[in-house]
Amino acid sequence: MVKCRLQRWVFLLVFFFTVFINFSNGHEISLGTKLELIHRHGRNLHNEVQPTSQLERLTQLLQSDTVRINAISQKLSLNHRRRTSTNRRNVQEGTSIYNLACTNGTRIHNLNVSGEMSMNSGADFGTGQYFVHFEVGSPVQKLLLIADTGSDLTWMNCKYRCRGGDKCKRSLNKGGTFQADISSSFRTLPCSSRMCRVKLADLFSLARCPSAKDPCAYDYRYNDGSSALGLFAKEKVTFTLTDGRKARLHNVLVGCSESTNGPSLQIADGIMGLGYSNYSFALRAAKKFGGKFSYCLVDHLSSNNVSSYLIFGSHNDTSLKLNKIRYTELVLGVLPTFYALNIRGISIGGTMLDIPHEVWDVNGLGGTILDSGTSLTSLVPPAYEPVMAALKKSLSNFSNLNLDIGQLQYCFNSTGFDESLVPRLIFHFEDGARFRPAVKSYVIDVDVGVKCLGFVLANWPGPSVIGNIMQQNYFWEFDIKNSRLGFGSSTCI
Ligand SMILES: *[C@@H]1O[C@H](CO)[C@@H](O)[C@H](O)[C@H]1NC(C)=O
Ligand SMILES: *[C@@H]1O[C@H](CO)[C@@H](O)[C@H](O)[C@H]1NC(C)=O
Ligand SMILES: *[C@@H]1O[C@H](CO)[C@@H](O)[C@H](O)[C@H]1NC(C)=O
Ligand SMILES: *[C@@H]1O[C@H](CO)[C@@H](O)[C@H](O)[C@H]1NC(C)=O
Ligand SMILES: *[C@@H]1O[C@H](CO)[C@@H](O)[C@H](O)[C@H]1NC(C)=O
Ligand SMILES: *[C@@H]1O[C@H](CO)[C@@H](O)[C@H](O)[C@H]1NC(C)=O
Ligand SMILES: *[C@@H]1O[C@H](CO)[C@@H](O)[C@H](O)[C@H]1NC(C)=O
Repeated sequence: MVKCRLQRWVFLLVFFFTVFINFSNGHEISLGTKLELIHRHGRNLHNEVQPTSQLERLTQLLQSDTVRINAISQKLSLNHRRRTSTNRRNVQEGTSIYNLACTNGTRIHNLNVSGEMSMNSGADFGTGQYFVHFEVGSPVQKLLLIADTGSDLTWMNCKYRCRGGDKCKRSLNKGGTFQADISSSFRTLPCSSRMCRVKLADLFSLARCPSAKDPCAYDYRYNDGSSALGLFAKEKVTFTLTDGRKARLHNVLVGCSESTNGPSLQIADGIMGLGYSNYSFALRAAKKFGGKFSYCLVDHLSSNNVSSYLIFGSHNDTSLKLNKIRYTELVLGVLPTFYALNIRGISIGGTMLDIPHEVWDVNGLGGTILDSGTSLTSLVPPAYEPVMAALKKSLSNFSNLNLDIGQLQYCFNSTGFDESLVPRLIFHFEDGARFRPAVKSYVIDVDVGVKCLGFVLANWPGPSVIGNIMQQNYFWEFDIKNSRLGFGSSTCI
């Protein structure tokens, strides 16, 4: 205990001399912060067995895509049923059911959830392809989290309560675990609070409350056997601003996961929730940084000396080599926790494809999501078929190798291939904006001398998902305050 305190004071002293900008409530900051986004295969991440070949890389991405796409579609189909049964009003139903027949990786709830449950509860899929460093606590501890636009709660592997000498001696951040005991800003929430009983029921808080001041606990389960058990807490998060100064965000809701296990949770120290929800870190941080966050993704096959970025607040267009930024409506709160877009259609080589309107209707059975955690783009059959047919036609001189690579339907020997042979694909938004991805974002490199059409089939009814490979070499700005998405081609560096 004595050592623990001593350690704490030494750190407080050190930090006393560090200049912090402390955000007071309601205060916005004009500077931004830029965090490196590390691709799953970009660097040696701890516990991760790196794939040895390009093909193995892609196979891994396809496997996690399958899990994620099923989970997204299941979550939203349940949400849709709920919406229609409540006449589209966001009515919360007192419910103890929620018997989801989960696909792999979906979080299933523990029967002991408290209070009511709305279908706005986020899905922490435990998958995701980009990782980000997170500085949390006082003094700061550094963790590596999955940056996930499909998750609401931000949680981390965590050790709470310094019960005895030995545990206090643990050095900071050993093994990627947040040491809550040595953080002077760590505050648990009482299980008797309304926050715990009602609000956090969305995030699977437990009803168990042996005594009023006990911490509010959660239990997330993923049906691939993974689970995360822990406590809700408020913490301080530290950012490095673009001018090098430090800034801190107070009372950020985080999960302190005391026990996690299972395959999907091994790679990172936790998850950073970038989804659209009242509890997401993205919204909390965006509020302080001008109401927006953005990211810029480089090709996932790029060498290690170039990085993708996650930016809160203002960005430097010059350093991002961002030319022209276009805007389209960001549809918020309709397909929770996701960021949805209003697409009007897809054209290939200047010809608008014949795709029924209901495919794109976010208020109906379809809609489109922009997701950072899915690699490939998935389209529902009425969109998938015409897109594939048009692209295959242009590749008729390159016969299908009929390779068995996940769900990829058309792969060819790329000897003699030239991108100019492929007509350009354009996503047209309802409001007139157009997104014209690079050819290599949909005719993708799969192996030496092998390319494939990078679309997979999604289930209808359900949403289509624009994955992160399609988003590469573009800058994406989630302007929450103005419900709009900005995008522009960029080298990101
Ligand atoms: C979950 O994934 C594992 C391993 O990938 C597989 O063996 C199992 O059948 C899957 N379960 C379901 C319900 O899809
Ligand atoms: C739920 O919690 C109660 C006490 O709060 C406990 O008695 C019961 O066994 C728990 N049920 C499950 C399924 O965990
Ligand atoms: C946040 O909470 C408010 C008030 O409870 C609610 O009206 C709003 O829809 C919520 N927003 C999200 C994104 O869940
Ligand atoms: C990154 O490294 C590659 C070679 O590995 C080199 O060709 C490229 O110019 C480097 N890029 C930058 C931005 O340094
Ligand atoms: C933006 O980046 C460019 C190039 O890196 C740099 O010269 C310029 O000073 C930066 N501007 C600001 C406001 O940081
Ligand atoms: C296929 O190759 C032939 C002969 O080189 C050429 O005339 C034709 O235009 C090519 N077809 C396509 C769709 O590129
Ligand atoms: C592609 O075709 C070339 C020549 O036609 C051949 O040498 C090469 O082995 C083929 N590659 C694959 C992956 O089939």
